[in-house]
Amino acid sequence: MSTPPKALSVPAIRARKGKVPIVALTAYDHPTACEIDDLVDLILVGDSLGMVVHGLPNTQGVTIDMMVLHGKAVVRGASHALVVVDMPFGTVEESPETAFRNATHIMRETGCSAIKLEGGQEMAPTVKFLTERGVPVLGHVGLMPQKAAMLGGFRTQGRKTGMAEKIMADAKAICDAGAFAIVIEGTIEPLAREITETVSTPTIGIGASPACDGQILVINDLLGRASDYAPKFVKRYAEHATGAREAVAAYADDVRTRQFPGKEHCFE
Ligand code: KIV
Repeated sequence: MSTPPKALSVPAIRARKGKVPIVALTAYDHPTACEIDDLVDLILVGDSLGMVVHGLPNTQGVTIDMMVLHGKAVVRGASHALVVVDMPFGTVEESPETAFRNATHIMRETGCSAIKLEGGQEMAPTVKFLTERGVPVLGHVGLMPQKAAMLGGFRTQGRKTGMAEKIMADAKAICDAGAFAIVIEGTIEPLAREITETVSTPTIGIGASPACDGQILVINDLLGRASDYAPKFVKRYAEHATGAREAVAAYADDVRTRQFPGKEHCFE
């Protein structure tokens, strides 16, 4: 029997900077967490769950209760990967004190190891407040889905004059404030590369750069679950939706033609 891999800690993830790439994926439920736990280093219960699990048009409608429910299920299925839960829109912006109250509520209820929050320089005082009080923070700069309306939709960031400098300043501020790693989402490649070379904390890219210290994808995109749309930065490793539809169509056919259940499925 193989020994289960050791549980990864926040310092272990931080120590990966410039060394072994960090493999990260989102998960939203218990079976998925069990399936991927020993294969990845970090599982993010992303607020993308609002869109990919609950069918919301964006992530702004996600609540703390939703994150707690999904976070609990994922934590129960993970003994190796570091589980990070996203702070939903409106739960960290008001004040560092409110952010601390909401973050500790999520950590206490789910048992997760860290939280993630979106934001740059404006959120640095909050990241400092949280990390100084024992809440490990994964930062998130570049394309920030919670601010998609303000950014003009889900657009690659860093092309407009001054934008690259702002995103670099955002990453530096979040790093200096004590984040143990930073997600860089949807930026032009040279910018994500430069940020990775500049900041002392690991960067985890999504639509960013192969030079990042790690990569993350939304698991539904990677597995081809339920959506035909795949952004340019997604590599599909499976076609689950097609497989699931074929299986359900075969089941429906079997029931309609009375081929299921067979004798072997019945109790004498
Ligand atoms: O919510 C999410 O899934 C995320 C990842 C895309 C990084 O923030």
